[in-house]
Amino acid sequence: AYSLWNDQIVEEESIVVSPEDRGYQFGDGIYEVVKVYNGNMFTAQEHIDRFYASAEKIRLVIPYTKDVLHKLLHELVEKNNLDNGHVYFQITRGAISRNHVFPDASVPAVLTGNVKVSERPIANFEKGVKATFVEDIRWLRCDIKSLNLLGAVLAKQEASEKGCYEAILHRGDIVTECSSANVYGIKDGTLYTHPADNFILNGITRQVILTCAAEIGLPVVEEAMTKADVLTMDEVIVSSVSSEVTPVIDVDGHVIGQGVPGEWTRKLQQAFEAKLP
Ligand code: PDD
Repeated sequence: AYSLWNDQIVEEESIVVSPEDRGYQFGDGIYEVVKVYNGNMFTAQEHIDRFYASAEKIRLVIPYTKDVLHKLLHELVEKNNLDNGHVYFQITRGAISRNHVFPDASVPAVLTGNVKVSERPIANFEKGVKATFVEDIRWLRCDIKSLNLLGAVLAKQEASEKGCYEAILHRGDIVTECSSANVYGIKDGTLYTHPADNFILNGITRQVILTCAAEIGLPVVEEAMTKADVLTMDEVIVSSVSSEVTPVIDVDGHVIGQGVPGEWTRKLQQAFEAKLP
């Protein structure tokens, strides 16, 4: 397989990453995941924009223009003949003898990326999935797509061990998002989701879904739900590049709505699907 290494596409085996890379030692970097449909990256520009925005928030300088990065990602997909799957890429603040303080500007950032074949989880879209509440113990800058994912990893593992697809995270009573997805509730024909502030990652899929909601005449209220709200919603959805519009039909044994994907969810799925390349 071919991988991205700084500004080149190389054989994966030829990549050399230092054990002193700040990505390893501090999680000092950021990442993105872009979905590929029929050989085409979906909303690549939006992901690249968020990548640069995350970098700026941690004062990491990406030594390439957005256009160069876009071309490199495109080349990565082509070289691997990727039809359906995703592209993962990350950048770290470089490799240097361990010290919390930023290295000086002469230490180059390290950009790597690869592709993975994956099929759309159609069965989940049709049948829905189970979720579980997990306390949100992450830091207060969840708007940054940071490589530090321990809070997410621990939550997802707990969900997985309970036979659930996702962990619905909450700070006290307030529901924020999921371990690697955004969460929404629909009640009496209105869609509720947490505002895009520092407590959630503003998903690119989330932004597409809010557009879809406008298209199908589903009003959106960007206000946080409580845990109790979630359980009394008519419909609950989670979204990410890989989950797209996934219905949640059970939260900790509480059946959501009729226990099957609801009508608004279906309409959102159709509107979303219509946008795919
Ligand atoms: N996760 N919230 C969190 C905490 C996430 O990690 C993600 C994505 C999302 C959804 O964002 P998007 O719609 O842009 O995928 C929300 C990626 C897929 C991951 O970590 O693999």
